[in-house]
Amino acid sequence: MRSILGANAKELASSISVARETIWQHKLLQPRVAIVLGSGLGPLADYVEHPVEIAYIDLAGFPRTSAAGHAGKLILGYLAGVPVVLMKGRAHCYEGWSYTQVQYPVFVMQALGASTLITTNAAGGLNGRFRQGDLMVLDSHIDFLFGSSGFSSSFMSPAQPLQRGTETYDRPMMQRAQQVARSQDVVLHQGCYLATLGPTYETRNEYRFFRSLGADAVGMSTVPEVIAAKKLGMDVLGFSVITNVASTDIPVNTTHDEVVEAGNSVGPSLIGIILQILDDMSGEPD
Ligand code: HPA
Repeated sequence: MRSILGANAKELASSISVARETIWQHKLLQPRVAIVLGSGLGPLADYVEHPVEIAYIDLAGFPRTSAAGHAGKLILGYLAGVPVVLMKGRAHCYEGWSYTQVQYPVFVMQALGASTLITTNAAGGLNGRFRQGDLMVLDSHIDFLFGSSGFSSSFMSPAQPLQRGTETYDRPMMQRAQQVARSQDVVLHQGCYLATLGPTYETRNEYRFFRSLGADAVGMSTVPEVIAAKKLGMDVLGFSVITNVASTDIPVNTTHDEVVEAGNSVGPSLIGIILQILDDMSGEPD
């Protein structure tokens, strides 16, 4: 399968349908919710009932993930009674994938039937109130990947204009996340996520700059997937695990290991919130 880099809308649509057919061969129920597992959230996959795993390598057009801590497979099954499709591992622009390639798995998950995207990431806290191990629900983002999708607009429904800002993230789901967090005694901040290319962590001046723009957390993912989902008319809920606190005063040397370790320690709280949100959905009609 040749790379979808530079593919036109027709090629992209055909690649999506090949990947979808491969997945349907497993005769699974149509997933309602697509979930992207960021660093530390991998263990959510252990809760999936009747799981079927498909490696990205076996799916047409899927990018191969290479970042440490990012396995590359789709997992389909049930979480809290809801049919889901999970991405265990995601591609990043810093690995050399194009914006469209990073978005591509979302196109496929939506083509399978998912109408909601829950996405998670590890991020550096910029907001002075944030502490390592905190959680944030995204209410907006800043795209410092300066993303431009290579796909032609004819591929997307013209009835779905791209929305930016607070409307991008589904407000009722955000509010529900806050309620659930409170009921589980978990502090859940709400704020703006800035996506930067990386892969180096920021200099102190960059942290200051991002903070001055109004960003509360900084990471290297999520926004391309969110934009794709929104363009396809999906409801989007996003979470950041604050794995390190960006200091604008003291030099800090953030390492990938530190980020993965902090992600692992706070992951269970976020998993609890997501499972409860899904549990609520299981009682609702599609
Ligand atoms: N910067 C960018 N990406 C990140 C960080 C950070 O400080 N922490 C986790 N992902």
